[in-house]
Amino acid sequence: MIDIQAVRNDFPILHQNVNDHPLVYLDNAASSQKPLQVIDAVANYYKEDNANVHRGVHRLSQRATDAYEGARSKVRGFLNAASDKEIVFVRGATEAVNLIAQSFVRPMLNKDDEILISHMEHHANIVPWQMLCEQTGAKLKVIPMTMAGDLDLSTLDDLLNERTKILAVGHVSNALGTVNPIKDLIKKAHAKDIPVLIDGAQAVPHLTVDVQDLDCDFYVFSGHKMFAPTGIGALYGKQSLLDDMPPWQGGGDMILSVSFEHTQYNELPYKFEAGTPNIAGAIGLGAAIDYMQGLGISKIAQYEHDLLVAATEKVSAMDGIRIIGTAKEKASVLSFMIDGVHPHDVGTIFDQQGVAIRTGHHCAQPVMQFYGIPATARASFAFYNTMEEVDALVSGIKKVQELFA
Ligand SMILES: Cc1ncc(COP(=O)(O)O)c(C=O)c1O
Repeated sequence: MIDIQAVRNDFPILHQNVNDHPLVYLDNAASSQKPLQVIDAVANYYKEDNANVHRGVHRLSQRATDAYEGARSKVRGFLNAASDKEIVFVRGATEAVNLIAQSFVRPMLNKDDEILISHMEHHANIVPWQMLCEQTGAKLKVIPMTMAGDLDLSTLDDLLNERTKILAVGHVSNALGTVNPIKDLIKKAHAKDIPVLIDGAQAVPHLTVDVQDLDCDFYVFSGHKMFAPTGIGALYGKQSLLDDMPPWQGGGDMILSVSFEHTQYNELPYKFEAGTPNIAGAIGLGAAIDYMQGLGISKIAQYEHDLLVAATEKVSAMDGIRIIGTAKEKASVLSFMIDGVHPHDVGTIFDQQGVAIRTGHHCAQPVMQFYGIPATARASFAFYNTMEEVDALVSGIKKVQELFA
């Protein structure tokens, strides 16, 4: 069992009142809170070790480099990648998808080739591919979805064809919470020699991820949704693929030697890390991984599952509520509509009760178009949430219904 009170004591931000109510933070899918262990790791880096990495012979630079590279090893262990060379630090999932689009896919893309995504992707896993299609004349294809919020795989065999140059799909949907059957999708794509990128932004805070077991070619995520600072994330790529890819951005650190005639690029993973990286962010990400592993990721998953099941049961039992996204396999997210009330009004009334939820299209406008709605209200859970906070969600809905009765 997770000791929730002890865990909550690690998160100073949770202990405050908002609009004279104790804060109930249910917007974890947008960005999660940071434990003292992460805050201290970042602060201690600036207090004790701050220097640039890889270039200095002096002690601070060596310590900063050790901490930065140590964080890379932690990410490798977290994803069970085979080598640190397969872990590239990036700003977040968005930057990682753009990197793969431009460096891996673009060089092999011809007019009329196809890129396959799904209907429930976050804009970060749609727009970079659309831009690539505009640049090359390739076509964007979409795996459809069902009303329950599952992928509709009935046409997958046709969608994966000799023109498909990559399948890029989310592990967990941020708008619906659906956990997609990615291992199966990867197997099917690989049977046709199609590489696969998994957007794991909503999966890593909640589920154990093993990239070798999944056999995905690329896996991307953001630190700030998994209790680490903003502005840091990671791209996992199979070494054989990363080795053959050209660098994405040029600059310092990604080179071995530079002359006006010729530049020799650095080895992996530095080839993809041009310029001074987010050293403090990487160290914070490493601390967040330590924190999650200290709790046990399977325990986190079980506890959050219990919260989600309880919330789903309680909210579905209420009149005038439509839950958006009722897939069997879900993680963390409960999206809903209250009859006759715009989700933005729902969010505002919740805020008056001290309850932070997300309202809007969640950067997944095609999902909203699919359901014919402008937006949803979304509660999303983390391991520091409690059953009492599930009840606060239910009370918030009642309050909205009373005000709009
Ligand atoms: C599923 C998914 N993919 C990608 C992203 C983009 O993450 P970031 O903005 O941190 O790059 C998000 C953020 O909400 C997301 O939920």
